[in-house]
Amino acid sequence: MQVRVLGSAAGGGFPQWNCGCPNCAGLRAGTVRARARTQESVAISADGARWFLLNASPEIRAQVEAFPGLHPKRPRHSPIEGILLTNGDLDHCLGLLSLRESHPLVVYATRAVEEGFTREDVLYRTLQRFDGQVTWRHAMLDTPFDLMTHAGERTGLIARAWAVAGKLPVHLEGLRSPSPEDNIGLEIRDEATGATLVYLASVGQVRDREVEAALRASCLFFDGTFWSSDELRSIDPNAPRAEQMAHLPMGGSEGSLARLRELPPGRRFFIHINNSNPVLREDSPEYAGVREAGWDLAWDGMELTL
Ligand code: MLT
Ligand code: MN
Ligand code: ZN
Repeated sequence: MQVRVLGSAAGGGFPQWNCGCPNCAGLRAGTVRARARTQESVAISADGARWFLLNASPEIRAQVEAFPGLHPKRPRHSPIEGILLTNGDLDHCLGLLSLRESHPLVVYATRAVEEGFTREDVLYRTLQRFDGQVTWRHAMLDTPFDLMTHAGERTGLIARAWAVAGKLPVHLEGLRSPSPEDNIGLEIRDEATGATLVYLASVGQVRDREVEAALRASCLFFDGTFWSSDELRSIDPNAPRAEQMAHLPMGGSEGSLARLRELPPGRRFFIHINNSNPVLREDSPEYAGVREAGWDLAWDGMELTL
């Protein structure tokens, strides 16, 4: 399985347009050791020709252009066979509306995420210009499903989704009650090689299911939004805590690094990293701690073969 990280930052990216925090300002000024990052999305392929995106970020156009593997092979073509959504947050879905140039799309998502994106959304009409412009294939929890081409051919990638502690997207809060389908983890196996990618971009709590999946994974991507619970409060005293946003922090005795310390050596990466996270500075003690624990940060343009 080939893996290409298109974007590795949380919503807002790094630097964020309206942020002059020490990280964002330092990155712009070139005074901190850190890399710019676009909003989280990863491309995967079994054969290097037919690709699936994990989430569709608001920066999808630039992300596609930055990776020749996703360039069209002829007029009106795309190697993107399908897009999987891990939740309905706009940083994961807004890219769909940017793919509106009358191209048929296949989207794998839970029914709850589909309805959250399509219902009463006048902008969604831009993806309904002809019959079959968007085909939703429902990811049923705990039931493996084939990642198929647009034409319905198997690609040898088999996905499984499960409910992960999360929350409703901000724009649906108060409109309906939360569902276990709101936020999923993905385990994607290449049946030819047995390689398994586990993708957990948004994790409110590490439960046994996440640990079991991580133990089996050839490669793990995990929620790296925040280092500490009150990190955003150093920027805005009224900001929510990490837990209120359903993002388990990386640091601390209950954080994800501690919860996942038993993993065998392997490829594990934090992704969806918020611009406020001190780990983004490669000369910080937090980043040193991540490296010592056998982890690294995903970066835009990172490629792996599993
Ligand atoms: C999140 O990851 O918590 C969301 O992207 C936050 C948001 O929608 O602003
Ligand atoms: Mn997000
Ligand atoms: Zn910032």
